[in-house]
Parts: sequence; structure tokens; C-alpha cells
Amino acid sequence: MAKVGVGVLGVGEMGKRHAENLRRLVPEARLIAVADAAPERAHQVAAELEIEHAFSSLEDMVQRKDINCVLIATPDKFHAEAIRVAAAAGKDIFCEKPLAVNLTDAHLALEAVAKAGVRLQIGFMRRYDPAYAAAMKRIAAGEIGEPVIFKSVGRDKDAPPLAAYQSNVNGMLFYNNTIHDFDLARWLMRDEVTEVHSYTTVAVRPEVAEYGDVVASVVNLKYNNGAIGNVESYVQAIYGYDVRTEIIGSKGSILVGTLQQTPAVFLDSNGASQTLADHFLSRFADAYLGEIRDFAQSTLQDRTPRVTGEDGLKALEIAVAAENSHLQAKPCSVAAVQGGRKNVENAVGSRAN
Ligand SMILES: NC(=O)c1ccc[n+]([C@@H]2O[C@H](COP(=O)([O-])OP(=O)(O)OC[C@H]3O[C@@H](n4cnc5c(N)ncnc54)[C@H](O)[C@@H]3O)[C@@H](O)[C@H]2O)c1
Repeated sequence: MAKVGVGVLGVGEMGKRHAENLRRLVPEARLIAVADAAPERAHQVAAELEIEHAFSSLEDMVQRKDINCVLIATPDKFHAEAIRVAAAAGKDIFCEKPLAVNLTDAHLALEAVAKAGVRLQIGFMRRYDPAYAAAMKRIAAGEIGEPVIFKSVGRDKDAPPLAAYQSNVNGMLFYNNTIHDFDLARWLMRDEVTEVHSYTTVAVRPEVAEYGDVVASVVNLKYNNGAIGNVESYVQAIYGYDVRTEIIGSKGSILVGTLQQTPAVFLDSNGASQTLADHFLSRFADAYLGEIRDFAQSTLQDRTPRVTGEDGLKALEIAVAAENSHLQAKPCSVAAVQGGRKNVENAVGSRAN
């Protein structure tokens, strides 16, 4: 069987899971190498996964001719530059979300991909989750009629350590977390978001404001075709990892997601209890495998990936508009941040490099 050779860049929590999937569970792929800015981490993961090659830079890894694809799972800030390096080396690319943390970098990355004629898939894995995929099928079949309202909740269980904010290597809440919901907001509604209005808070952790971030947000959405929506993000829900979405249509509605980890209820003299979902790696295990397998197949079958660089850009534009709305404390049109690099550089409030 033909296999695509893959090199994984950044083997922290997420990259290691992708590398494990590629090594053990994707028949269409061969994991050739891993690379990480921390060389000891790259060597440790290579040893654990019983592969030969570990590098400390992407530039070294892409020299290998048996690597057809690069999977990028470095912190957010480094995605766009890694895409450019991989594209220039002629490799197909799977990049974790977000595409970039500002629109200038995003456009440069997409230009490099187009120039090299390589494939780019963005890691919006929720599209591969069986529940979300089933919802999409029914929406596409017209079962709920015209989508009218989109609602999504994304809550992480534990607050990130302060060091995660201090390192300044990931985008703020909208880029690192809410971006998944912004993608769902487009995909499930089969429409584009035209305006956003963000409300944010640092109430339970004021020190986060110092790093330009927030701990919770709600973003109201307006769509091109008249639909409306609302997305809530919260990084420290304490009780569990809680991702749920509702699509309300003219003929019916769909609810996706549950708090329960397993369909079991435990009963004793104190009452009832359930095990709650607690982490993205378990909640979306099938989706992480599904997206990587589909990416490998798209390369082998020489077809366009199901989640494209353009999808990464559109979600990023909503995130930039949401940040502008948060900074300006008023609604912000997505069109105001769209366009080529020139527009981007002029956009009010767009993030600096
Ligand atoms: N799709 C999802 O559900 C999901 C979930 C978690 C994380 N992510 C994304 O995955 C990416 C990685 O997140 P993580 O939680 O694994 O982070 P992490 O901090 O656990 O791992 C990042 C790794 O990248 C390495 N690294 C840092 N800078 C590098 C560079 N310039 N070149 C090469 N390696 C570098 C670090 O040494 C580390 O091993 C982020 O972009 C994050 O947004 C996506």
C-alpha cells in the first residue's frame, strides 16, 4: 500500500498525539521523523514511538526526500513561518489551528502555499467528530430547514498556568480557543459571519489582562443571510471540558455535545453522579485521528483537503474582528478586516507581529 511520509514539527501535547496516531493508527502514513525546538523532547518522542529520526529544526527535517508532508503543532505564533518553510520545500502541510495570529502572516503563508502548489489542511478537528459530522449531514440534507440561530459553548477545565500567558507564544482566547467555534459557525450554518460584538472579562483572574488576554468571552454574530449566533468561551470551567453546540433551524434544531464522559450514572446515598468529559484529547480522540487520516488520504488521492487554508483564513478574520470589537467595545464588521495584505496592515486594532 502506498504511504505518505510525514514529519511532525513540535511534539508537545498536541503534536505528540498526532505523531502517535500517524505512527500506529493511520495505515496511509509513515511517520519518518519528529522535530522540536527542544531537541531532548524530539529525541524522547522519537524513542518512545520507535522511529529513527529526530531533528531540532524544520529546516533540517524538510531536507529528507522521504518526507512528503509536514504536520505543524508548534505554538500558534510559529505556524505561519513554518508553513512558509514547508511550502518552499515542496511539502504538503497539515497545520494546527490557528493558521496564524495575525492576518499579515496568514496571507504570507497562503501565498507561499499557492506559489508552491502544495496542499494545506488546518486542524479544525471538530468537523471530523462523529457527532458534529452527523449534525452537518442532516443540515446539508435540509432536515432542520433554514438555519436561524447558532450557539456554541467551549469551556476548558483548568486555567492555563500564568507562564502560558507570559511566554506570549499563543494567540489570545479568540485565536487559540474560540477559533474552533468560529469555524463551526461558518461550517454548520453554511454561511459567512459579517459582524461580531464581543464582551469579555478577566474578572476571576485579573492578572491575565497584563498579557492582553481574557478568561471568558461571549461573541454575538450576524450572518450574511440574516441568521444570528452566539459563542461563549471560558478557560477555567473547573468541572470539566465542556463543548456543546446548538443549531436552530426553521424546521427543527440539533444539539451537539454532552457533559458526560461515559453514559453511566452512579447512584448512592449522596445522590447521583456522572463522570464528566475532562480533556480535549479524550473528547475529540476520534476527530484527531479522523482529520489526520483524511489528510493522508487527500495526499495519496491527490485531492483538495476537506478543511482548507481558506477555511483557516476565514475563521481567523472572525477572530481578528472579535478582538477589534473587544478592544473598541463596539460591534465590528468582518469586512473591515478582510482583503489583501494592504487592507490588513491598515485594519484598526489588528494584532502586531
Ligand atoms: N486542535 C486542538 O484541539 C488543539 C488542542 C491543543 C493544542 N492545539 C494547538 O497545537 C499547537 C501546540 O499546542 P500544544 O498544546 O501541544 O503546545 P505544547 O507547548 O505542549 O507543545 C509545543 C511544542 O512545540 C515546541 N516548539 C516551540 N516552539 C517551536 C518552534 N519554533 N519550532 C519547533 N518546535 C517548537 C515546544 O518545545 C513544544 O514541545 C498550538 O498551536 C495549539 O493551538 C490544538
